Amino acid sequence: MGALTGKKIVLGVTGGIAAYKAVEIASRLRKAGAEVHVIMTREATEFVTELTFREITGQPVSVDMWAKVTNFNVEHIALATLADLVLIAPATANIIAKIAAGIADDMLTTTVLATKAPVMLAPAMNTNMYENPVTQGNMAELRRRGMQLIEPASGHLACGIEGKGRLPEPVQIVQEVMDFMTREQPLQGRRIIVTAGGTIEPLDPVRYLGNRSTGKMGYAIAAEAARQGAEVLLVSGPSNLPNPAGVRTVRIQTAREMQAAVEAEYGEADAVIMSAAVADYRPKNVAADKIKKSDDELVLHLERNPDILFGLGQQKQQQVLVGFAAETCNVEEYAKKKLTKKNLDFIVANDVSSKDAGFAVDNNRVQLYFRDGRAEKYPLMAKAELAKVILEKVAGILS
Ligand code: C5P
Repeated sequence: MGALTGKKIVLGVTGGIAAYKAVEIASRLRKAGAEVHVIMTREATEFVTELTFREITGQPVSVDMWAKVTNFNVEHIALATLADLVLIAPATANIIAKIAAGIADDMLTTTVLATKAPVMLAPAMNTNMYENPVTQGNMAELRRRGMQLIEPASGHLACGIEGKGRLPEPVQIVQEVMDFMTREQPLQGRRIIVTAGGTIEPLDPVRYLGNRSTGKMGYAIAAEAARQGAEVLLVSGPSNLPNPAGVRTVRIQTAREMQAAVEAEYGEADAVIMSAAVADYRPKNVAADKIKKSDDELVLHLERNPDILFGLGQQKQQQVLVGFAAETCNVEEYAKKKLTKKNLDFIVANDVSSKDAGFAVDNNRVQLYFRDGRAEKYPLMAKAELAKVILEKVAGILS
């Protein structure tokens, strides 16, 4: 049994000089046990013939969407549905741009647009094309959508220059495919609700009370939970961040809207991670018209918002509950109090008064306090890494 036995892989081959290496990729995938269906772009057929791939894979090869498919009793979307993985190797700057733009003008781009399977790309092109900000931007967009990009190698390129842009060796590409297909997904099948960003509470039709939370921590947790196989609902206050790949994202504004969105799915949830900075108070009266300046002083009356997490703690059954405590002093003492009061499994505490961590930056420095009294202290780390730590603890409690 090969590592890829039973897996159906659609191999997209595009028109770069490295297209010949795709023959060895197809062969190695097959040897690893995969069923390989090749889709070539028209340009790729200038470099390698369809016949080569048909012989190697033992399957029909698709090129032209409109061609009569006689021995292949499926319509053109079928490969998109059948695939466990779509691998494009080599991927030219052109196909990367087309996928980033959502163009579907041939069999390969149509399949990519129609598939729900993971997509991996191995970019290979001239160094200048690779380094061009347009290409870099397109690759960033594909990554944001959850596609996997295999880093090109550096070396002597067919166009005569030295630099980055070579297709890695087929053995390496197939290894990346195997690593990806056999990766651990500790949160597979788990339902996780993540809240992120700050809530905003209207004062009048123009103004609101808000806070400095950007949503970075919660978005990182939601994205990582989805990568680890969870079904994720992200309930987010206003944030400039794009919806994370593979995550159902609901955007709300006020604390009460956040509460409604979370409670609607709480019963079925396995875990709730409340990283949102929820406003504790809201203006008591929301003015119907814009408040005019008149006196030297303006007094605002605020009333308490619901404490969402406290409410969840009271109704807690199977759910693992994780809270955040952003403090400017006495971090440990306050965090431990909240852990108990809100009936949490653990709390992530950080000192938001330090400049290099906390709000609006990519790093965080935290302590975790658990309900059994354990405490763990972490050094400054990227929020993406911290997301992994938090989810590892959640998975541990769930298992
Ligand atoms: O009590 P404090 O606001 O510091 O607690 C922080 C934790 O409680 C965070 O996880 C936050 O998302 C949550 N919270 C909440 N509803 C509020 C205030 C905070 O769920 N109204």
